[in-house]
Amino acid sequence: MSLYENEISKRRTFAIISHPDAGKTTLTEKFLLYGGAINQAGSVKGRKTAKHAVSDWMEIEKQRGISVTSSVLQFHYEGYCINILDTPGHQDFSEDTYRTLMAADSAVMVIDASKGVEAQTIKLFKVCVMRHIPIFTFINKLDREANDPFDLMDEIERVLGIKTCPINWPIGCGKNFKGVYDRNTNKITTFVAADAGMHEIESHELDVEGAEDQVGIIGYQKLLEDIELLDGACEEFDQDKVSNGEISPVFFGSALTNFGVETFLEHFLKMTTSPLPRHSSIGEISPFDDNFSAFVFKIQANMNKAHRDRIAFMRICSGKFEAGMEVNHVQGGRKIRLTQPQQMMASERTIVEEAYAGDIIGVFDPGIFSIGDTICSPKMGNMAFDGIPTFAPEHFARVRQMDTMKRKQFIKGISQIALEGAIQIFQEFNTGMEEIIVGVVGVLQFDVLKFRLENEYNVEIRLDPLPYEYIRWIEDWENVDVARINGTSDMKKIKDLKDRPLLLFANSWSPQMVLERNPGLKLSEFGTEH
Ligand code: G4P
Repeated sequence: MSLYENEISKRRTFAIISHPDAGKTTLTEKFLLYGGAINQAGSVKGRKTAKHAVSDWMEIEKQRGISVTSSVLQFHYEGYCINILDTPGHQDFSEDTYRTLMAADSAVMVIDASKGVEAQTIKLFKVCVMRHIPIFTFINKLDREANDPFDLMDEIERVLGIKTCPINWPIGCGKNFKGVYDRNTNKITTFVAADAGMHEIESHELDVEGAEDQVGIIGYQKLLEDIELLDGACEEFDQDKVSNGEISPVFFGSALTNFGVETFLEHFLKMTTSPLPRHSSIGEISPFDDNFSAFVFKIQANMNKAHRDRIAFMRICSGKFEAGMEVNHVQGGRKIRLTQPQQMMASERTIVEEAYAGDIIGVFDPGIFSIGDTICSPKMGNMAFDGIPTFAPEHFARVRQMDTMKRKQFIKGISQIALEGAIQIFQEFNTGMEEIIVGVVGVLQFDVLKFRLENEYNVEIRLDPLPYEYIRWIEDWENVDVARINGTSDMKKIKDLKDRPLLLFANSWSPQMVLERNPGLKLSEFGTEH
């Protein structure tokens, strides 16, 4: 038995994903209120970030440093130790969000009931599916006019391609919102409006006298019809399928009025998983392995010029972390001491003395870490966790420095920013480093790049957008004669800094055409690992 079994098995580490404005921040805040980690709503930083223009964002990032992008919130609730990986609401930071999902064991998907599945959710969802992690759906804002719940379920199944299993079911919405019906306990919980929003009142069995009065005759009749339909048409709850990410349990509620949040939290914590084993070069590493191991999934540079510190965020995969411990930095090929690790607690950074598998710690990075690096106890030797995929950039631009004398600073700056994973840099296929092409997942990163090169490296640049939107990595590229690939007119060959060839396309259908024209060629949407 593991020395730390108790600590590790009570941990639940999950990410909250949503399209901006669906209510992710509000829901997170309510979770923290239940856990007693904050004592008033509005304390979670990063709120409203989604609504800020670029120039505002720079200011905010400067003032707040780390809090605008993904942060980690830890709190305790009913014997569980919960780590919420918050992800930036702004769609332009999606690569960062993708990587955060690599550190989570499950995901909570928040959907606005009046909008249904939105663009950003689809992208994030793909990453969850790739990892086969459990996905829980919270359909939010039932206190407002909402789409029909059956249509919402249908849309999730159709657009996202995952089966759904409603755990509770709404009775009406908007002004006619009466409450929810719990399919497990067969109980109706109704809600009353009060000054500070709605409140749950005690529940009644569906078929006892008085239940009808509770929700009104129309609501009651509709509910009975819905239940009949649900029982016939819905996927049955199956914990194994939930754990494999094949079925998403669905909950309805309203984060703002705090209805359905606690019920969600309770069910969710039972259905989700404690820290999962992680694959490595020496096989699966169990979270209960007594030796400490972790991997870096995110590097955050502080935008404040005065403190040019970088924080490497690590997900602990096994064992226990103790401040000051000596570890192997596998990719760096040396031993280091992990001092001054930090943990984000609501709005503040705190120094942690110990942490366990499932937890996330932020470690001061003097410029030695890269995304995907493994850190482990010397007893584990040089084992390495599977790398983190490079997500496909969707916007490309050619970068030129204005002052050609500053070539060295330019290369240094752009390479360091690329190491953090905020941008990806490429070269022309034939000419090499003279021409640099930058690819980003969100277009705002271009502004961040320009801003940071000017402010941190004193280099002015010009960015000329390129018309490409689709990138493909060439599988088994060492055995492919790239010069002879028969391309389309909108295709461009480029290479990364390790000389690996890639293809850019302006049209979505072109990659398929290239595959048809070049039998045996294999292209991939995700890059080789960091
Ligand atoms: P995000 O992190 O996913 O981007 O969303 P956030 O929680 O910031 O919520 C976006 C807006 O939706 C906020 O309104 C928030 O109050 C509102 N909201 C969240 N949950 C619910 C809900 O259950 N019902 C209703 N009716 N609204 C909800 P805002 O006006 O943009 O901001 P604020 O002034 O309320 O802070």
